Amino acid sequence: AKQALVVFTPSGRRGRFPVGTPVLKAARSLGVDIDSVCGGRGICGRCQIQPEIGDFAKHGISSRAENVSPGNEVEARYAKKRGMKADRRLSCQSLVQGDLVVDVPADSQVHKQVVRKRAEVRDIELDPAMRLHYVEVEEPDMHNPTGDLERLIAALKSQWSLTDLECDLRTLQGLQQALRKGEWKVTVAVHRGQVITAIWPGFQGNAYGMAVDVGSTTIAAHLCDLQTGEVLASSGVMNPQIRFGEDLMSRVSYVMMNPGGDRAMTAAVRDALNTLTEAVAEEAGIDRTLILNATFVGNPIMHHLLLGMDPTELGGAPFALAANSGMTLWATELELNINQDGRVYVLPCIAGHVGADTAGVILSEQPHLAEDITLVVDVGTNAEIVLGNKQRLLACSSPTGPAFEGAQISCGQRAAPGAIERVRIDPETLEPRFKVIGSDLWSDEPGFAAETKKTGVTGVCGSGIIEVLAEMFLAGLLLTDGTINGEMAAKTPRIQPDGRTFSYLLHEGDGKGDGEPELRITQNDVRAIQLGKAALYAGIRLLMDRLGVEQVERIMLAGAFGSHIDVKYAMILGMIPDCPLEKVHSAGNAAGTGARIALLNQKTRDDIESVVKKVEKIETAVEAKFQEHFVQAMGIPHTTAVFPHLAEAVE
Ligand code: FES
Repeated sequence: AKQALVVFTPSGRRGRFPVGTPVLKAARSLGVDIDSVCGGRGICGRCQIQPEIGDFAKHGISSRAENVSPGNEVEARYAKKRGMKADRRLSCQSLVQGDLVVDVPADSQVHKQVVRKRAEVRDIELDPAMRLHYVEVEEPDMHNPTGDLERLIAALKSQWSLTDLECDLRTLQGLQQALRKGEWKVTVAVHRGQVITAIWPGFQGNAYGMAVDVGSTTIAAHLCDLQTGEVLASSGVMNPQIRFGEDLMSRVSYVMMNPGGDRAMTAAVRDALNTLTEAVAEEAGIDRTLILNATFVGNPIMHHLLLGMDPTELGGAPFALAANSGMTLWATELELNINQDGRVYVLPCIAGHVGADTAGVILSEQPHLAEDITLVVDVGTNAEIVLGNKQRLLACSSPTGPAFEGAQISCGQRAAPGAIERVRIDPETLEPRFKVIGSDLWSDEPGFAAETKKTGVTGVCGSGIIEVLAEMFLAGLLLTDGTINGEMAAKTPRIQPDGRTFSYLLHEGDGKGDGEPELRITQNDVRAIQLGKAALYAGIRLLMDRLGVEQVERIMLAGAFGSHIDVKYAMILGMIPDCPLEKVHSAGNAAGTGARIALLNQKTRDDIESVVKKVEKIETAVEAKFQEHFVQAMGIPHTTAVFPHLAEAVE
């Protein structure tokens, strides 16, 4: 037969094929990445190509669509039913007619890149653990008796080259019915190329997954399309365990004091997860039984309680985890209302204080692949700290306390409309101006009062506290040792005696007891932040000592707090060590992103498990040096350390 040259873009792979070869088949034989759920039957539409691209005439290749066969009935049926762009063809239905250049658009590639918006991290290569395969199974034959499962497995082998498949009992229980209902045509979901995990009669082309970050305060979930990598819906709920204890340690003590308390907390978090599942499925308008896979991150205590494991051991030395490897489970084992055959992957914990959330942060920020000495900090009531590069990676957690979240601060509050989040203090007049969440205006701009009428000015959130203290320091209102400078009372009426110390009046309020409150920064507020930031810095410093470095080259701030603070102010207060400011980035909810990466790319699960094994774990509680670093870090920005890059920050 006549041969034709076929070139695929963007891969550039090429080969000669007999005229009449289906383009999908040609692509497969060259290892070109084209997706398919239906196996070339013109049903799924995932194999689309664009045969008419560019002008390759000078290479002797006509890239005209006439070099593929005209569309056939199957293709026309698909286009009518599901719609298809005019310049697209189904590669399984198009036959090579002559020399041809074919583009495989991104949405037809199996291993497409899921773009992450931030420049400093890599995109995610789509390669989900759960894949759909449409398959036609032989009917049973009385004269050659074999089981339905055996014939299904044989069909998957011949039509999809899947070998050594297993099937769980629960899935098997639905097999016979599905095969007969689908008239021997079924779609199966295969988990990690190994286990037949769900079966639908006929063709079923949609698969979804859910990435969940179980935080001690909020639980957040992203619903993703496993075939495009797109996030279809995101939602969050309060962690209902809060009623058992505000912070982690109080939840552990609850378990210690109330036998069965762990089970109550496990039930509460699982309930919340099911509420969340409903919410994201509804928002995306999909059936929750099509959610086939879910991934979870969380700190060690959240991790244990989610899995129904008593967290008591994590409450005291030696802080032993029940297990530190990643876990692949059935959704039903967690009573999770996704597909009844769905699978769940829980990322590995690192150490007693450094959890699967940190594993997620590592997956997202990739310090283990970096050349530069990279510091990743996730600040919550515990700061989880990772330092290193591709040679060595160290991790620890440091008890920063709840001050950064606005707790223990007289005027502190959670980040919510009405909370002050940005502060500037005029170095001459010492007058403050600020912005509150929910408004774009500064407090001294016209229209501010009208715009904030609804919310009022109710308190100061974590990022606001960092800014007000840093601005006070820059204006000379706060001394290096953290004392509010009483001498400045001569220059501004805002510095006022407060017992034996002083305070700074940030906002007058409306003077009524029940109205907008007066907001002042007290000496105790400063101390609470000093303690928190000293713990953070000391933890970082400990890891720097261990790694033998005096300087970090790149910093990623993760978590809600980390993404809201202005990195310049974090450095002015000495929360983080010196580093060129343009090398300090906010990483957003990196733990949640890590869960999403593990959801969308199965190999990253193996990667993170091997990285986690190699991470050197430092237990701050038993390190003698920690206390020393802590005391020195109480100063603003620090008692002894220098910050050469701070000058440019203050400029
Ligand atoms: Fe499914 Fe072509 S492979 S439509």
